[in-house]
Amino acid sequence: MEVTFKIYRKDPEKDGKPGRSTHAVNIPADATVLDGLLKIRDESDPTLAFRASCCRGYCGDCMIRVNGRARFSCTAKVSAFTEKGPELSLDPLRIVPVIKDLVFDWDAFMWNKIKAVKPWLEPAEPASDGENVVPDAQMKDLRKAMSCYYCGMCDEGCTVLPVDFNFLGPAALTKAYRFAFDPRNRDTRERFAVLEGPKGIWDCVHCYEADEHCPRGIEPTKRIIALRDLAFKMGIKNEKVARHHQSFAASVKESGWLDEGRLAIESEGLTNIKGLMKLLPTAAKAMMRGKAPLPYLHAKRPGADKIKKIFEKGEQETK
Ligand code: SF4
Ligand code: FES
Repeated sequence: MEVTFKIYRKDPEKDGKPGRSTHAVNIPADATVLDGLLKIRDESDPTLAFRASCCRGYCGDCMIRVNGRARFSCTAKVSAFTEKGPELSLDPLRIVPVIKDLVFDWDAFMWNKIKAVKPWLEPAEPASDGENVVPDAQMKDLRKAMSCYYCGMCDEGCTVLPVDFNFLGPAALTKAYRFAFDPRNRDTRERFAVLEGPKGIWDCVHCYEADEHCPRGIEPTKRIIALRDLAFKMGIKNEKVARHHQSFAASVKESGWLDEGRLAIESEGLTNIKGLMKLLPTAAKAMMRGKAPLPYLHAKRPGADKIKKIFEKGEQETK
């Protein structure tokens, strides 16, 4: 079948300006996108830059956007993208610095962030006979996180990274989870020095896009939420988002519904005068529009006691 590939091009050794090249390619019906790229590079344009390693859908090295959707080019069949016509648009990922054509900076995208979370074990006990054996049951859940092959697909799907590229991201936080929950780990509190700071666990908006994108069912969002729970257990609650979570839960537990005024104040912090002052214009607007009637009272809703019991039951179960 004949397919037209329209490929994003950028060459820093020329003018470095992004453009697009067009190639008509004759390929078998079951060809992958990577087959098409290899054919173009071998037969018509040896300057075309793209990456691939395992060619089996494991390593993620070949990840690009095909007609706008992130895919591993080595497993994406061309025929899956030609329903509307024999034309494919190939681009690098949405949010990454491009080095050349479809090759982007993996260090900036993911590896530097993984390095930042200390991706190695520092055991509390010295190994005996060269081994530090852990009962199988204790490793069962971790084994799932360990099967992450760092393809980066979750970071590509993440909705926070396009807004703040410095967010550690679901792939690095999955790595952090793997070591924070390892029973041999020496000092979990020390690990949280990076995780609790800006761009760490509190920046996730739990949209679950990372879980949707992960081809291995690792559930990175669940791992980030577990890290947050662990942070609370260790008494780490000073970040604004942590206060926001606590205030939200306390308000619903006590009155059966959310007290937005209390949420805004407690999220900023009761002693954060500068932050509280910033809330005043919003509060004034809300009052003028009848959204915060004076006097501001937050009454319990009917059935609040039942809601409180649900919270108490949950708290008992997670103790
Ligand atoms: S969590 Fe899933 S999507 Fe993210 S890097 Fe690991 S295997 Fe890839
Ligand atoms: S080359 Fe490894 S996933 Fe495609």
